[in-house]
Amino acid sequence: MKTTMRLTVSLPAAFSVAIASACAPQVFEGAWGIEALEDENPDPDVVEVSLVATPARLELENGTTTDVWAYNGTVPGPALVADVGQRVIVHFENELPDPTTIHWHGLRVPANMDGTEVQQSPIEPGQSFTYEFVVPDAELAWFHPHLDSARQVEMGLYAPIVIGDGSGVGEGRVMVLDDVLLEGGQIAPADAGGHMGSMQGRIGNVVLVNGHQRPVLEAPAGTTERWRLVNAANARRFRLALPGARFTLVGTDGGMLESPREIEEIDLAPGERADVIVELPSSRGDHDLMTSGGDGMMSLSGSDSVLVVRMTGGEPTSGPDVDALMQPLPDLPEPTVDRTVRFSGGMMGGGMMGGGGGFRINGESWPDVTPLEARAGDTERWVIENDTAMDHPFHLHGFRFQVEGTAGWKDTVHVPSRGKVTIRVPIDDNPGRWLFHCHILEHAEEGMMGELRVE
Ligand code: C2O
Ligand code: CU
Ligand code: CU
Repeated sequence: MKTTMRLTVSLPAAFSVAIASACAPQVFEGAWGIEALEDENPDPDVVEVSLVATPARLELENGTTTDVWAYNGTVPGPALVADVGQRVIVHFENELPDPTTIHWHGLRVPANMDGTEVQQSPIEPGQSFTYEFVVPDAELAWFHPHLDSARQVEMGLYAPIVIGDGSGVGEGRVMVLDDVLLEGGQIAPADAGGHMGSMQGRIGNVVLVNGHQRPVLEAPAGTTERWRLVNAANARRFRLALPGARFTLVGTDGGMLESPREIEEIDLAPGERADVIVELPSSRGDHDLMTSGGDGMMSLSGSDSVLVVRMTGGEPTSGPDVDALMQPLPDLPEPTVDRTVRFSGGMMGGGMMGGGGGFRINGESWPDVTPLEARAGDTERWVIENDTAMDHPFHLHGFRFQVEGTAGWKDTVHVPSRGKVTIRVPIDDNPGRWLFHCHILEHAEEGMMGELRVE
């Protein structure tokens, strides 16, 4: 499939104004760059922005027009850009036909700003809500609805969040990865694929980078770049490889690493982020950044080209000073609370029998769950066990964690089929009701979600 579908968004009349003032800052420049939300507040300690969710249209280059839902008319939505310590105020309006909320995936915000059903009532069509919080960490995060999210995220509601600390941590090429399932040029209904569809999680047939199919990244051969990636897909795990290139991981979900780590592929389960220094191939011509769909036995897709890396002549540029990007990571204390969080159900986990997905955590299916109770100030050890035939990305709201045996702050971690992952979670003084769930959105909706209560 060599056609390049160029996606453009046509906007309802109300938005032409917002977009027309399009000397708006970009997170990075270029044809497939991402715009930043405009800060309407002159106070240097405050970032105040306006956001609206509406139906919109994406025009594919092959002539099809796809109905989507979009933030400020674009897919992905414009980036929320701020610096650590700033107060962020988001005036949000819901112009969708359905209720929605916004969740700030990866930001440690107060519980009542977290956008989940346990903390916020739905924002009805025509209503608005103002989100307000201080951003505590320099990181790449993202926002998306937390209501009917398998459908709403698939429809196009997602956008990056870039929090800098003034030391260059806000820089780099931000790429939001997604895939959509198109049928006859339209996003297929949420129940497409039927029971199998929700078992597997929705794997799309069109891969998008910043809303573009196979965009072209052009640079002089041998250039070094910094890529910052978000996986916003409902269910697809991206495992990116670029023959002839070298990848060095410098940051994970929650910020920078302490020391750089060479990696063979960029492995991103749904919800995860990566910050990578990429030494691009030294030979001229087109190279494909490929993703393997190799998700064990459940794979539906083969290999796909995500991006065309076009190496030209000219003087290559060198990347950022890697050592200067590194940040010390605290050694977390020995945990005083131990828990097991066990994924079960789904196909071959017993869930096939009754027809329903029966996706469970600790034997319970959301919303009929027994909340875990935690105390601020404790450090907890969670063993996340996967008793199913599929991989599941575990995501915790409100708190960041470290995975034992690896370095870096995380909020989402890939838990392989029949495998387990051990994490250490410092329970910050951030009381409230918090969700944790599989970030394959269909699985979360079929019950693979639990609650953590912090006093
Ligand atoms: Cu990105 Cu609860 O989700
Ligand atoms: Cu989250
Ligand atoms: Cu899952």
